[in-house]
Amino acid sequence: MHEHPDRTLPETLNDLSLSVHGGKALDSTMALRTPLVMANSYQLPDDPSEISWSATAPGLYTRNTGVNQSGLEAKLAAMEGGEDAVALASGVAALHAVFFSHVRVGDHVVVSDVTYEATWRLWTELLPQRYGIEATFVDVTDLEAVRAAIRDETRLVCVEAIANPTTKVADIRALAEIAHAADALLMVDSTFTPPPFYRPLADGADLVAHSLTKYINGHGDAMGGAVIGAHELIQPIKADAMVDVGGVISPFNAWQIQRGSVTLPLRLRQHLASAQAVAELLDADPRVAYVRYPGLPSHPEHALAARQFDGRGNGGMMAFAVDGDPETQNRFVARLRLITSGFSLGHDDSLIVHTGAEGPRVTTYPEPFRRLGHLRLSVGIEDTDDLLADLSQALDATFG
Ligand SMILES: Cc1ncc(COP(=O)(O)O)c(C=O)c1O
Repeated sequence: MHEHPDRTLPETLNDLSLSVHGGKALDSTMALRTPLVMANSYQLPDDPSEISWSATAPGLYTRNTGVNQSGLEAKLAAMEGGEDAVALASGVAALHAVFFSHVRVGDHVVVSDVTYEATWRLWTELLPQRYGIEATFVDVTDLEAVRAAIRDETRLVCVEAIANPTTKVADIRALAEIAHAADALLMVDSTFTPPPFYRPLADGADLVAHSLTKYINGHGDAMGGAVIGAHELIQPIKADAMVDVGGVISPFNAWQIQRGSVTLPLRLRQHLASAQAVAELLDADPRVAYVRYPGLPSHPEHALAARQFDGRGNGGMMAFAVDGDPETQNRFVARLRLITSGFSLGHDDSLIVHTGAEGPRVTTYPEPFRRLGHLRLSVGIEDTDDLLADLSQALDATFG
C-alpha cells in the first residue's frame, strides 16, 4: 500500500459539493467510492458483554447499522441541516418509526387531512384500533382549525410540506409555532420537497421524514426511508424502530441511495423547471379540466409556496384531470408515449397515475378531485420540450 495523506473535507460545503462528498467513508482500500459492505455480522472485541443491545455503531450487527447505512445517515443529516438521521427500509417504515417511537397510548396526534395513503391508514385504522391512540384530521391550511384540534394530550402534529396527491402546501413555520406552544412535536413528511429545494427543520419542524425511494435516490431502483432531526429525537427511533423492530435498510439499498443522491440538486433543477412549464401548458389547454400545482396563481397556497420555498420552485409534482369521465383519463394516459403510468414518483423518468374519484380519503380532497378523480404527474428530468410535446400529442389523440 502507498502512503496516503490524511484529507479532511472543509467544515462547510455548499449544496452541490455536499451532495457529491457528504457521507463518504474511505476505508483501508482507499477506494474513492464508499465500498459496499454486505456482511450482516462483525468480529467482536474480546469482551462483547460491554456492548449495549441498542448500540448504533457500525461493526457489530447490521440491524444496529453498518458503514453504508451510517454513511447515508450522515449525508442526509447534513443535507437537511439536522443533527442526526436514521435510515430505514422504506418511507412507510420511517413514518411508522416516528409514530412508534414518539407516540404512546393515551397520546393524541393531529394529522393533515391530505396525506399519503399509508399515513392515512395508519391514523384512521391501524394505530387507533390496535393501540388506542387518537388522531384528529384537520385542514392544515386553516391554522385556527389546527389550534382548535390540539388537546392537552397532543404529542405530535403530522403534515406533508407539499401533500400527496393534492399538492396542498402546509405553512411549516406557523404549524411549528402552534405545535410548540402545545409542547407537541411537528413532523414533516418532506418526500415531495427534498433538500436543497426545502429544509423544514430551518422553519421549526422537529422531525423530517422522507421516502428515499423517491427524489433522493431518484433512479427508481431502491427503496428506503429516513427521519432527520435532533439527536435526542432520532436516537430512540434507532433503538426502538431499527434495533428492536428491525425496520433496517439493507446495506445495498443504502449504498444505492447514497449514489443516487449525488445528483439530487442537479436533478431537482430540471424537475422544478420542467414541472412549472408542464403545469402552465396544461393550465392553458381547454381540454384540461383542472390543474393543481403550487406554481400556478390558481393554487390556493400559491403565495405561501412562493414565500416558503423562497422562489426556488414549486416542486415536481402536480395533479390534474382532462375533460371527461374516468375512461377518458385512462385513454389520455394510454396515449402518452414518453411519460409512463407507474405508482412511484421523483424518479428520473416522468410517471403518471390515474386515481378515481372514490374512496374514503377522497372526501377531504378539493371539489374537482372529488368529481373527476385525478392524474398525479411526477415530472422527470427528460427534456422539457419533449415532455410538453408528449402531453400535447396525447391530448390531440384523446380528443381527436
Ligand atoms: C409523501 C409520501 N410519503 C411516504 C411514502 C412512502 O414511501 P415508500 O414507498 O418508500 O414506503 C410515499 C410514497 O409514495 C409518499 O408519497
